[in-house]
Amino acid sequence: MCGIVGYIGYEQATPFLLKGLEKLEYRGYDSAGIAVFNGNRIEVIKSKGELKNLRETVSKHKIEGTVGIGHTRWATHGRPSDINSHPHKSCSGKFAVVHNGIIENYIQLKNKLMNKNINFVSETDTEVIAQLLEYYYKGDIIDAIIKVMSRMEGSYALGIINSDNPDEIIAVRKESPLIIGIGDGENYIASDIPAILSKTRNIYRLENNEIAVLKRDSVKVYNLDKELINKEKIYIDWDISAAEKGGYEHFMFKEIMEQPKAMRSTISSRVKDYDINFDDVKITVDQLKNLRKIFIVACGSAYHAGVVGKYVIEKLIKIPVEVDIASEFRYREPIVDENTLVIAISQSGETADTKAGVIKAKELGARVLSIVNVVGSAIAMESDDVIYTLAGPEIAVATTKAYSTQLAVLYMLALKFAKLLDKLSDEQYKYYIDELNALPDKIEQILSNKEDIQYFASKYFNCKSVFFIGRNIDYAISLEGSLKLKEISYIHSEAYAAGELKHGTISLIEDGTFVIALATQDFLFDKMVSNIKEVTTRGAVVLGLSCGHENELKAVTNFQFFIPKACDIMLPSLAVVPLQLFAYYVSSMKGCDIDKPRNLAKSVTVE
Ligand code: G6P
Repeated sequence: MCGIVGYIGYEQATPFLLKGLEKLEYRGYDSAGIAVFNGNRIEVIKSKGELKNLRETVSKHKIEGTVGIGHTRWATHGRPSDINSHPHKSCSGKFAVVHNGIIENYIQLKNKLMNKNINFVSETDTEVIAQLLEYYYKGDIIDAIIKVMSRMEGSYALGIINSDNPDEIIAVRKESPLIIGIGDGENYIASDIPAILSKTRNIYRLENNEIAVLKRDSVKVYNLDKELINKEKIYIDWDISAAEKGGYEHFMFKEIMEQPKAMRSTISSRVKDYDINFDDVKITVDQLKNLRKIFIVACGSAYHAGVVGKYVIEKLIKIPVEVDIASEFRYREPIVDENTLVIAISQSGETADTKAGVIKAKELGARVLSIVNVVGSAIAMESDDVIYTLAGPEIAVATTKAYSTQLAVLYMLALKFAKLLDKLSDEQYKYYIDELNALPDKIEQILSNKEDIQYFASKYFNCKSVFFIGRNIDYAISLEGSLKLKEISYIHSEAYAAGELKHGTISLIEDGTFVIALATQDFLFDKMVSNIKEVTTRGAVVLGLSCGHENELKAVTNFQFFIPKACDIMLPSLAVVPLQLFAYYVSSMKGCDIDKPRNLAKSVTVE
């Protein structure tokens, strides 16, 4: 969702701001803008639509200065338009503000200011912040910010410049993420690491209710009592090329191809000689023995990883697992107590609903373990234990390598807990570890057959609808395959538990309907054959996906794709790869914006 950048130094600010915004495009946006102090006043340029529109305007109206802020906006309050784009200025033009998040009580605040004859030009909640700052400013910017913060309800990461103090940028955080990049004679703000990675690897992460004052040679961080806070510097060791396309046409394809490497890193960081090292996870064996229930709470693809996790954990640990969409979990009354473990899964570690789910679970007394990709992110910080996936930066909105590494962590977690609880014999345990270690090579094998998937995509990229069916853990993968396809190709798709199809959805199957049937589970293969026949007899064209049963599958389907054999619980890691490739190729053939699908955001930091 929205992106923030800011620069203060001795160079021109605009090139950095535009470059930084480009690096944040992946978060999803529908307009962009920058504000730069030009020596006399703050100049603002903003444009609806893609960043190239902003670039064009900037190239016509040069905007010079060494202090500036920039923003990519994903509309929440007020439609996407030039006027509603950020930065927003206060009425005299003294303050310019960029904002990620939502000010929930902005209407009351706006009415209050309008009653004092302050005029508004946009429909946004953000303009209220700029106007409030000017209203409360009596010569001390920090005092004004603290006052404004005490009036606002909601979530916000703010970048602020003001013409009374032209040699500083103010950064503020409440709920929405914001980092400060520490340079040499220059400093930066950003909502996400890729924006500043080409400049510095040293950052501070702002915590809730912290206010940072950036000058060219210093960064000072204050709390709401205006006391200085000592911040710990974090070093980002991401490979810079991981956040670049590196010759690939799309980040999504690059990230699909990076899955073997991401899996290897995630697995090898934990598994050595049949030992799974989770020493940093502090949950004790006694706590494990007392567990009555596990909840998995997440959104989007992370939720789908959780659905796989349910099958795996219930099979290996024999503890009931409930998987909940975080936005549902947070507003219902889940039966959670101190004998519950809540596993939160999130690539970004910033998803608002998942974070709220974590906070709620802790309030209810549960222990929270999170599986997160971004080090030091909000969900990681809120959790009792955190296991990082080592996927590296993921830029494409549609997740692939982060999802795969989430599965890897879930397998390792289930195996480790099962071992600690004596639920597996040594022989079974070693078998699963061998299977786990073999996954990256098998994924590589599937990727080397990607042209087969490209062929299926070429036949069906024009179809109106695709149905994914599977049973058990294949159903979990159907959910992810269907989401991948619809989010980047805009083709309607549904995932159905194959046995449930006949209770309604089968009425949608007609001549030529395209169905992808997952039949990787040996013990359910015959059942799947029956379900496949149910759709083919009604005219469906079926692509069957399995790991064996060649002849039987060929007899009932129009096309087939075979993945290597693996143990049942780990087959999802293999089955998902052809489905990711299918979504990618279909979307590419349709000419869609694969890395930045319409209306979607990579990191959803609002409800
Ligand atoms: C967004 C993304 C999805 C992602 C979901 C959860 O909707 O587009 O790809 O699965 O958020 O994100 P998280 O960062 O919590 O995994």
